[in-house]
Amino acid sequence: MKRVFINGYGSIGRRIAQFIKDDPEIQIIGIGKFSPDEKVNDAISRGFDVYVPQKNIDSFKNYKIKGTIEDALANTDLVIDGSPGGTGFANKKNLYEPKGIMAIYQGGESVFGEERVSDLLFNSRVNYKEAYGKRHVMQGSCNVTGMGRILQPLREKYGSRLVRFDAILVRRWADIEQTEKSVPDTIEMSPNPHHQDDVKSYLGKDTPLFIQAIKVPTRQMHVHMMSIRFKDEAPNPSEILDLYKNEYGVATFWTAKGTKQIRDAAESLKFSFKDTNMIHIHANMVEKIGDTVKMVYSDDQTGIVIPENHILMQAMLFQKPYAEAFAHTEKLFHMEEKKKSLQEFFAKK
Ligand SMILES: NC(=O)c1ccc[n+]([C@@H]2O[C@H](COP(=O)([O-])OP(=O)(O)OC[C@H]3O[C@@H](n4cnc5c(N)ncnc54)[C@H](OP(=O)(O)O)[C@@H]3O)[C@@H](O)[C@H]2O)c1
Repeated sequence: MKRVFINGYGSIGRRIAQFIKDDPEIQIIGIGKFSPDEKVNDAISRGFDVYVPQKNIDSFKNYKIKGTIEDALANTDLVIDGSPGGTGFANKKNLYEPKGIMAIYQGGESVFGEERVSDLLFNSRVNYKEAYGKRHVMQGSCNVTGMGRILQPLREKYGSRLVRFDAILVRRWADIEQTEKSVPDTIEMSPNPHHQDDVKSYLGKDTPLFIQAIKVPTRQMHVHMMSIRFKDEAPNPSEILDLYKNEYGVATFWTAKGTKQIRDAAESLKFSFKDTNMIHIHANMVEKIGDTVKMVYSDDQTGIVIPENHILMQAMLFQKPYAEAFAHTEKLFHMEEKKKSLQEFFAKK
């Protein structure tokens, strides 16, 4: 039994803790909390011990906390860091590295420059085995994870016939539960989006991928608009859709009107956190024009990286074979069942 600590209990940390607590191979030591607010009691009511930074301990005197994060880490094999983007690097330097603890970082960190948390950006579809023996690994962000699920199957099937990928990322402003963040009525430009270098870090730096990004006032998922150019005549949409039929975490919808309708469907189907944990190809938006295929897919920002963290954790802690790790993750996340129900919900009428 390996001991895991979840440091940070926001959109991502909360979900990871909730799913991983049902893993019989893992003991969750507890979660790290930084602000004394109602989420402390939420964590306790879900059965988690709450630990706080030594320096903040006085501000938690009205809560039933278990102890300090520093103490909890002394009893931990691996930390899943769910801290705000950029904070993971400081945590690595100040906490995890000095204590010799393995750690998984989230997509707001970087694998480049002086503040890189790792030299590996993980995408289970592409580089699962590279996480064997690593002590610090970054899980790609939601957009970066989703893009690997689209690009890797294309590369495997079409190889040198592929000339170029152009993607426009339409990003959500905030998550549904981040009620403290407002959603301003504007479309924001995102120059030099990190996603391009992040995806190339696992697909290869010469990958002909060109990304533009904007942020729009919604809390309901991201949408990617992708053009795939071929050297010759592009395949028909039906062939492209066939390619993703059996891909893990990729669903195909024909009648979804928008991202909110997908979250509403997830809620009505009683999925945890209203997450689908996957990307959704909008089949009615796939078209072929000469040498180019145009695709649109939506990406469940909060859900998609949660099973990925679980798969990565198994590679780092147990060096499990790929198929075994996936099968184990499937027992907790039921992705195949979710995909089937959602595809039926949004089937061709
Ligand atoms: N949200 C998404 O859709 C999404 C998707 C993919 C990847 N990510 C990435 O996941 C990471 C976390 O994002 P999030 O959306 O979950 O953020 P979030 O909702 O703002 O939550 C961040 C959490 O980190 C805690 N925290 C603050 N300082 C900390 C520290 N020094 N060490 C550890 N934890 C600390 C906060 O605690 P308090 O609440 O107690 O202050 C809060 O619970 C980021 O790297 C982000 O880019 C996010």
